[in-house]
Amino acid sequence: MINVIDVSLQYGDKKLFEEVNLQFNNGNCYGLIGANGAGKSTFLKILASEIEPQQGNVSIPSDKRIAVLKQDHFAYEEEQVLDTVLIGHERLYEVMKEKDAIYLKTDFTEEDGIRAAELEGEFAELDGWEAHSDAAILLTGLGIDESLHEKKMADLKTEQKVKVLLAQALFGNPDILLLDEPTNGLDIQAIHWLEDFLLHFDNTVIVVSHDRHFLNKVCTHIADVDYGKIEIYIGNYDFWYESSQLATRMAKDENKKKEEKVKDLQAFIARFSANASKSKQATSRKKLLDSITLDDLKPSSRRYPYVAFTPEREIGNDLLRVDGLTKTINGQKVLDNVSFTINKDEKVAFVGKDDLARTTLFDILMGETEADSGEFHWGVTTSQAYFPKDNSAFFEDNNLPLIDWLRQYSPEDQTETFLRSFLGRMLFSGEEALKKANVLSGGEKVRCMLSKMMLSKANVLIFDEPTSHLDLESITAVNNGLINFKGTILLTSSDQQFVNSIANRLIEITPNGLIDKNISYDEYMRDRELQAEIAKMYTN
Ligand SMILES: Nc1ncnc2c1ncn2[C@@H]1O[C@H](COP(=O)(O)OP(=O)(O)OP(=O)(O)O)[C@@H](O)[C@H]1O
Ligand SMILES: [Mg+2]
Repeated sequence: MINVIDVSLQYGDKKLFEEVNLQFNNGNCYGLIGANGAGKSTFLKILASEIEPQQGNVSIPSDKRIAVLKQDHFAYEEEQVLDTVLIGHERLYEVMKEKDAIYLKTDFTEEDGIRAAELEGEFAELDGWEAHSDAAILLTGLGIDESLHEKKMADLKTEQKVKVLLAQALFGNPDILLLDEPTNGLDIQAIHWLEDFLLHFDNTVIVVSHDRHFLNKVCTHIADVDYGKIEIYIGNYDFWYESSQLATRMAKDENKKKEEKVKDLQAFIARFSANASKSKQATSRKKLLDSITLDDLKPSSRRYPYVAFTPEREIGNDLLRVDGLTKTINGQKVLDNVSFTINKDEKVAFVGKDDLARTTLFDILMGETEADSGEFHWGVTTSQAYFPKDNSAFFEDNNLPLIDWLRQYSPEDQTETFLRSFLGRMLFSGEEALKKANVLSGGEKVRCMLSKMMLSKANVLIFDEPTSHLDLESITAVNNGLINFKGTILLTSSDQQFVNSIANRLIEITPNGLIDKNISYDEYMRDRELQAEIAKMYTN
């Protein structure tokens, strides 16, 4: 139904797409995957006609409505929340507006009457009568309470805006749904709701994500962007991953006879089919898997950045004391008398339901915001490097070439050779070191922020959600870098495996005080008594 014909696009000497030919069919859910900077977001923009390819074109039947998840969180500040969702169905929204304007007229003419009747007809055809309640259902499902539906977008927190924009994309049963990293910034309940929504969605979905669990749940197909090509595979993420590994092994083992390889493949598919659950997508996926042949298997190559943090000096015993920090934002008490002391060799994960509390705490400790009361004290031997959740201030409107961008943060060695080799290890090689900071992809920005932190040689690292835009290779590299780091870490991350492998102390900020334990994340979650105690601290 979507035909991509001979599409090519290149920036500088980097070929993102080279004569890509593809077809996306009705009713499937395609997971668009690929390394950071491979071109996923760019490809979605081509499909949505926001970017013109240099060659080739995309054909979509004109009666098909495309909905796109908007990336600009501040695009609708003056609109009401519910209206923002309705705007998702452009034509329906226009009809409503025009209709309302006519009815408001004091000099209602015969012509107005005829026009109003036309509009009423179209309104009914587009399910206009259900629009408000449909929009409200989507919002509530995503956790935006009814009391917020009449508010202005400007009055919502960022994580709430993200949900409204998602509801906007999902609204009105679009024929084609394009979602770029929709789970970023969503809490776990909202992610589960979205998974469920997509599993029951009958039309075509193309979704970019680095979240394995999510991709496995919703995808019938994987579209992998690599080496300027896009290949579509049947199955979910795990199936794609395992089959590309199998392909690599088979390619190495040239002596193996064809029949043996076919047998391997069949055994492999049988194993995956057995795992398929009862959902509609899983059953259709299962049917499709049986048709896979040896030629469909292809090895994949992904690269790992080099992530290592080396502190310039060792930390003394006095590290960080926090005493009674309190902060109210928009009338809501975000931090209430928070006190703790951090000791040497601790890697502390801040966990729990309230990410605003954690971000605010980090902002205060880094001097980005002031507390209403309370104080904190960093030991004299400490130096801090911060990875803020929102890094846009470092890149927006910034057209420095990458090499100059990085030079700002390299006090010791500012030479071309050093900076280029550093960028190379962070997977910006050759001409890529000259591209401008404001064109970077989400994951590339994160690689730059990590580079900045590495160059600082700080002995205390503070991370607020470092993995959210990264591809899996980069997550692994950061994860290992932090395991090996000899200094102190304060972090938050919704990636449980990441937290579990790094942290040796957990602090949870609840509305009724802190939980503070020197154990691993797994131990923390498995301790039933402790979890019951924590649950109580969120009630009343
Ligand atoms: N105007 C431009 N000039 C030069 N390079 C550009 C321009 N726009 C984008 N790029 C580059 O094109 C590549 C693809 O970017 P894109 O945002 O599509 O990546 P992505 O696959 O979505 O990555 P991520 O997983 O990090 O979101 C990146 O390397 C980016 O830096
Ligand atoms: Mg992207």
